[in-house]
Amino acid sequence: MKNKSSYIAIMMIAILFSLTLIGCGNKQDAQTADDEVATSLDKIKEANKIVLGTSADYPPYEFHKQIDGKDEIVGFDIEVAKEIAKDIGVELEIKDMDFDGLLAALDTGNVDFVVAGMSATEERKQSVDFSKEYYMEDSGLLVLTDNKDKYQSIADLEGLNIGAQKGTVQEEVAEEQIEGARIKSLAKVTDLVLELKNNKIDGLVLAIPVAEAYVSRHPDLILAPHIDLGQGDGIAVAIKKGNQELVDIINATIDRLMSDDTLDKFIQDATALSEE
Ligand code: ARG
Repeated sequence: MKNKSSYIAIMMIAILFSLTLIGCGNKQDAQTADDEVATSLDKIKEANKIVLGTSADYPPYEFHKQIDGKDEIVGFDIEVAKEIAKDIGVELEIKDMDFDGLLAALDTGNVDFVVAGMSATEERKQSVDFSKEYYMEDSGLLVLTDNKDKYQSIADLEGLNIGAQKGTVQEEVAEEQIEGARIKSLAKVTDLVLELKNNKIDGLVLAIPVAEAYVSRHPDLILAPHIDLGQGDGIAVAIKKGNQELVDIINATIDRLMSDDTLDKFIQDATALSEE
């Protein structure tokens, strides 16, 4: 009897002890995570700048434009990035790179955030965190104006040479929806547009607003009127995983821009600028 109760007592002490240990372990983990988060935003504040990664070949989101004889990167994504920097209270530095290098740049800390018309896909959510979505994009097919009526349905595209930007959702759309297409994927949309103009590819899968921006500046190009590639995609800001404080601050900026129609104005202005 005595043995049994001391056995129970020992067991209870052991259980209590391990519970305490588990409790401590959790606390410590949370503590470290908190520290990392704090340093990340603190680092940005300390450096007095936040570094944006983008791919400025995507009007009206982000594109190069001569302004007063000077090459500048403009677009509605850039305006959103400026507002985020402003709300954090730091300068904005822009790094223009290939779209398919952006997530690696986030991972290595080469950039602090990515605003690049990036679709918040489930696959990308495995490796980065996203803000709330601030835009929706659909895809279409950019073709030579001469071929406007050549393609009456997706079936007419079978086996053709189709371009898409490397590492984008549009590359997947081309692969999945166009039977037997020979996909040409290049790092820059600008190079793909040249391929199309030079008849090296038959069509280019592109987000509709981007296709429209190129159409407005290239009369020999048009959005194929009968090709519906459907599939709307939510666009969001990407941040390195595990930095909730930064996600929260960015979401607050997006909320502000969406609630007072500022974002709509950014989009209208950028669209006008991309058509000039
Ligand atoms: N929304 C597409 C994606 O996330 C294409 C984005 C391309 N962006 C750019 N700046 N070129 O895959």
